[in-house]
Amino acid sequence: MSNFNKKIAFVGGGNMAEAVLAGLLNKKILLPEEILVAEIKPERRRYLEETYSVETTETNSDAPKRAKTVFLAVKPQILQDVKSELKNILSADHVVISILAGQSRSRLGEALGHMETIVRVMPNLPAQVGCGVSAITFPEQMNESDRNWVRKILKAVGEVVEVEEPLQDAVTAVSGSGPGYLFYLVDHWIAAAKEQGLPDDVARLLVVETLAGAAQLLRERPDSPSELVYKVATPGGTTEAGLSALRDHDVPAVVHEMVRRATQRSKELNKG
Ligand SMILES: NC(=O)c1ccc[n+]([C@@H]2O[C@H](COP(=O)([O-])OP(=O)(O)OC[C@H]3O[C@@H](n4cnc5c(N)ncnc54)[C@H](OP(=O)(O)O)[C@@H]3O)[C@@H](O)[C@H]2O)c1
Repeated sequence: MSNFNKKIAFVGGGNMAEAVLAGLLNKKILLPEEILVAEIKPERRRYLEETYSVETTETNSDAPKRAKTVFLAVKPQILQDVKSELKNILSADHVVISILAGQSRSRLGEALGHMETIVRVMPNLPAQVGCGVSAITFPEQMNESDRNWVRKILKAVGEVVEVEEPLQDAVTAVSGSGPGYLFYLVDHWIAAAKEQGLPDDVARLLVVETLAGAAQLLRERPDSPSELVYKVATPGGTTEAGLSALRDHDVPAVVHEMVRRATQRSKELNKG
């Protein structure tokens, strides 16, 4: 593989770009000299150069000139600004990975050309600690070797799944926005723990480790979530008493509504 072929150029050097490039370096998938970051803010460029020894540029058009893989990681509203810098340089030989929320492959194809090279991905925030999950939509025409390369890049920061593009709105609502729902719940769970007399640091540790441990159990055990509920909730016991509050307030209906509203919002954003 030539250096051009292996190199990745990020357009936008924000939080998600940093998470992915750090994962690629930590897992030794790429060397620092195989990563270029096009980023508008000088202080951010300096930070990325000093922290990761990667090369940076302020010129977005350098990205497709210098690398076969172009990783689009700007905010969706910035696409208008960057498209003219990329459009005439991108070719059918590039692989463009877009993590822009609410931007369909066809809209990206109109903005950048070469829709057959555009891979749409919805990652999530835990990518920053290597525990993300990304949903990938490949263009039908993309060859297996390029697909494997994209999978390898995203596996550097967590798990990957592949979905048809119409399901990306649901993915956005479930795993893209998911950390936000959990942070909200955890915030209130900690407050409730403190209300029962637990000190702040103890309350936080108990809640966060319970969440992490329960997630690990769900990962490792074959039991369904409802089987696990049945196993932990002894009739007349404390878990059952707590669960009765969730049932009384129809939390299942709230959870369905939460995902439904977020999916709907993603669809609206996609339409522009
Ligand atoms: N964060 C998440 O959990 C998450 C999850 C899924 C998908 N995404 C998607 O990932 C993308 C990036 O999100 P993020 O959280 O990493 O955002 P972010 O931290 O704001 O990163 C975007 C970076 O691009 C820079 N930038 C702005 N205009 C530019 C330009 N013309 N040329 C080059 N760079 C430019 C920004 O600088 P300024 O700050 O000056 O604008 C910023 O440093 C978004 O499209 C988002 O929808 C994020």
